[in-house]
Amino acid sequence: MRIYCEKDYDAMSRRAANLISAEVIRRPDCVLGLATGSTPEGTYKQLVAWNQRGDFSFKEVRSVNLDEYRGLAPDHDQSYRYFMQKHLFDHVDIRPENTWVPDGLAEDPAAECARYDELIRSLGYADLQLLGVGRNGHIGFNEPDEDFMKPTHVVDLAENTIDANARFFASRDEVPKQAFTMGIGCIMAARRVLLLASGTNKADAIYNAVCGPITPRCPGSILQLHNDVVLVGDEAALSKLIEAGVCVCG
Ligand code: F6R
Repeated sequence: MRIYCEKDYDAMSRRAANLISAEVIRRPDCVLGLATGSTPEGTYKQLVAWNQRGDFSFKEVRSVNLDEYRGLAPDHDQSYRYFMQKHLFDHVDIRPENTWVPDGLAEDPAAECARYDELIRSLGYADLQLLGVGRNGHIGFNEPDEDFMKPTHVVDLAENTIDANARFFASRDEVPKQAFTMGIGCIMAARRVLLLASGTNKADAIYNAVCGPITPRCPGSILQLHNDVVLVGDEAALSKLIEAGVCVCG
């Protein structure tokens, strides 16, 4: 695992945007696995700026998102489709038909999961999979569990995930209780994984993912078995790795 320790959120975002744009420049028709949440917002903002400046193009890029709340329509302002449009797709030259997010309103959830897995397989899996991490160690919405779930599936969101995401909704009651998520299989099939983390509240999750036992109780720990993971974090998120002497900052 390669670790970049950056001084703060902005530096983390710039580093991540650099790595993503380098991938797109090297492989213009690459498949990007994308994430939502607060962590990648700055990365997307930087990519938008460089794309609008003409530094690189998303014209041939295909993208597949990690997850979507079950029950939210694409135009719901907390859906992950809406997030992607707002933070990236509406501002860059990616073709709308080349962007995929699970359908939160799918009437047959099992069929939607199978369709999404087949779609990702047919694209040849992600060349670069962007990930954030939950405080409980989740990646995508693969919550701590007894087993690693390989396929795309519907997950019951953990209570602490609902608590963490309530900040985006008018009230905790409005947070959907389920989501569609890419499984560990597609995440691990990505050629390269780019894991981002910012803030002290991610320090334990990052330490456990990088140095802890490989266990479905901390889904991010599976990344120890991937042969090309790049972790980009700020000093706060990497503080426990720094303490343990796993990386140095600056
Ligand atoms: C989002 C996703 C989640 C988030 C994680 C961290 O698509 O899959 O795993 O990356 O919940 O969220 P933030 O970045 O809001 O702390």
